[in-house]
Amino acid sequence: MTSQTLREARTYEEASEKFIKKEDRPDFHLSTRTGWLNDPNGFSYYKGEYHMFYQYHPYDSHWGPMHWGHAVSKDLLHWRYLPAALAPDEFYDRDGCFSGSAVELPDGRQLLMYTGVVKERQKNGGFSEVQTQCLAVGDGLDYEKYENNPVLDEKDLPPGSSRFDFRDPKMWKKEDGTYCCVIGSRPADGSGQILLYTSEDGFHWSFQKILASNNNRFGKMWECPDFFMLDGKAVLLTSPQDMLPQGFEYHNGNGTLCLIGDFDEETDTFTEQHNQSIDYGIDFYAPQTILTPDGRRVMIGWMQNWDTCGGHVQENLWFGQMSLPREIFIKNGRLYQKPIRELYDMRSGKVEYQSVLVSDTVNLEGMKGRKADIELSIWPEDEKNVYHKFSVRFAQNAQYQTSVSFRPKESVLKIDRKFSGSRRAVIHQRRSKVNHENGRLKLRLILDQYSVEIFVNDGEQVMTATMYTEREADGISFCADGEVRMDVVKYDLV
Ligand code: FRU
Repeated sequence: MTSQTLREARTYEEASEKFIKKEDRPDFHLSTRTGWLNDPNGFSYYKGEYHMFYQYHPYDSHWGPMHWGHAVSKDLLHWRYLPAALAPDEFYDRDGCFSGSAVELPDGRQLLMYTGVVKERQKNGGFSEVQTQCLAVGDGLDYEKYENNPVLDEKDLPPGSSRFDFRDPKMWKKEDGTYCCVIGSRPADGSGQILLYTSEDGFHWSFQKILASNNNRFGKMWECPDFFMLDGKAVLLTSPQDMLPQGFEYHNGNGTLCLIGDFDEETDTFTEQHNQSIDYGIDFYAPQTILTPDGRRVMIGWMQNWDTCGGHVQENLWFGQMSLPREIFIKNGRLYQKPIRELYDMRSGKVEYQSVLVSDTVNLEGMKGRKADIELSIWPEDEKNVYHKFSVRFAQNAQYQTSVSFRPKESVLKIDRKFSGSRRAVIHQRRSKVNHENGRLKLRLILDQYSVEIFVNDGEQVMTATMYTEREADGISFCADGEVRMDVVKYDLV
């Protein structure tokens, strides 16, 4: 019983994707089938495959009435599109099917929970979006919306919370077979809070408690929460809007926040101990995680940011891609991230140099490529006279370059994508404070046509940025002010 609206979207996406050349897309990062993509939704392992749904506007490369796109993968790196899963076609979601999540029901069906959006005219003549939580049940291909939708609405909010900012349910199943979900909400103080709901069967939900309160510390409204246990700690991920920078944290406006603490299951009490950005680059937002069948916690985010995503070229038929799947873990009380280990299987064509002296610009035979996995470690040639600056340049030719540079005296790593194909004067640089011992630093760079993800010190920090550089610019070079020793190994990712 597919609606007319969903049928049209499915027909359109199938016809439209044919006009997008494979080479114009990233290779192993999931990109939108056509049109626009934002948040990852319903990230799950179901019937032997990983499923990724996403915020989707098939008809335009800009945000519009939200559908759910759909893709599946065996290894989280090679994706196959399935027909769009949800369209805004009911009275309770006619202005959009916003972000949400998925779990498997005991009878083998898959349950989706998403935010239904309906515009409501306000006294001042403008519109506000009323947000409720809705369900759909399906078989991994087709989903039927639940007859009693919405299942959570303003009646289920704690007093003072806004019915216009109540979105992005992330569900999980507990060991006892019952369900929980966390939802982003805006309390009376105008900032954010995360609400916890519980359900016996996945269909009847009730408010449990306020799991975490922003109290105007980290931005305003908290979007896209995720909550799980990791290495004995409780982790709350959320994407706050309107963040103020604090030192070297939270520079992204629409940022990402990781709160690490303890969780008391008896009383559902989360006690915060540590906070940090999830990603320190330019383009990362609204991540979701899953537990893989072999017990790894894997996170994927939208590899864009609301503050910088407006500058893309109009005539492109697609815009929006996901980050690399990242295995996450806790070390020294911090969130660490590593590229998913399946990426090792894509490595080929090893090019390796050891103990190269970099004191000016160095070009090394075989060092090039736009789909590459580059590992490097650097140290000062003279421990008593540490270099001033070291940079790696990539996606480079006479016109273009993207660079990551490190200044040991300031302990600052900087990504710069000024010359990376953007025709807009949006933010193109980001700095992060990094740990190092007298100029010794380890970096791993993953390039996939139109993006770079930089993993610092074995995952202690990550900096992510998209690039718009034409594909022909595939040079990689190294450069130093002072004298640096470098071990470097590069693989093509195919
Ligand atoms: C986050 C977000 C969500 C919302 C969705 C709409 O990027 O604003 O809060 O569900 O995007 O597309």
